[in-house]
Amino acid sequence: MVKDKIGIFDSGIGGTSIWKEIHELLPFENTIYLADSANAPYGIKTREEIVALSRKNTIKLLELGAKIIVVACNTATTNAIQELRTEFDVPFIGIEPAIKPAALKSKTKTIGILATKGTLSSQLFSKTSELYTQDLKVIEVEGNGLVELIEAGKINSEEMDILLQHILIPFQEQALDYLVLGCSHYPYLIPKLRHFFSNDISIIDSGEAVARQTKAVLEKLKILNTNFQQKGECKFYTNTNPTVLQKIINPEKEEFQVKQKKF
Ligand code: DGL
Repeated sequence: MVKDKIGIFDSGIGGTSIWKEIHELLPFENTIYLADSANAPYGIKTREEIVALSRKNTIKLLELGAKIIVVACNTATTNAIQELRTEFDVPFIGIEPAIKPAALKSKTKTIGILATKGTLSSQLFSKTSELYTQDLKVIEVEGNGLVELIEAGKINSEEMDILLQHILIPFQEQALDYLVLGCSHYPYLIPKLRHFFSNDISIIDSGEAVARQTKAVLEKLKILNTNFQQKGECKFYTNTNPTVLQKIINPEKEEFQVKQKKF
């Protein structure tokens, strides 16, 4: 098997928000995306379970010809990337909540972080948070239930509106000017979040930064595809019904196909 693809995995469809950034920045790269939706959500699982699932996804991506692996899941990155880096001889790119830019730019010195329980309770997250938020008020909120609704294709549903109204209560009456999205599923909620925060709040996610980092590492390791004649091939696999994934990667026209696979 030729190792010529950027392998990307997430607990489900959320990591496609990262894939989109990668594909936009590196259109000539072949990509392969694994949506482990059968095991979503990861955010309420134990660290051991998250490590085991991340290992399983990595093995599959390597079998399928990955030259680099993007862990397009904050929960898997913050809980498992150290183990993955120790165990596998392939470069890994992870995604973490963008606390640093929010902390540096906040004028009100109050920032919000919306992430999964698994991310907020991880050691890696605590370390980063401690490093950059000493003089800030940080409001951390668990987005319990959001991933399940997004996975079910219910982004624009009444259920979602009701859940968001409830989840976002701790941010109300706070002077926050930055909201950090610490889960790769959440960028799909940005229009709804904008609606909720009537003030001019900046919402940041890490997708673009991950794409830039992926490019930088491919260049450094000299494994960037330099054939600029034809666009890369993008493959998508899910271990559940492909309908929701199929829709999210093809918002306008049916360009990409999703295959169902056991992994
Ligand atoms: N997309 C995953 C993340 O970034 C969602 C985690 C989950 O499945 O709970 O954290």
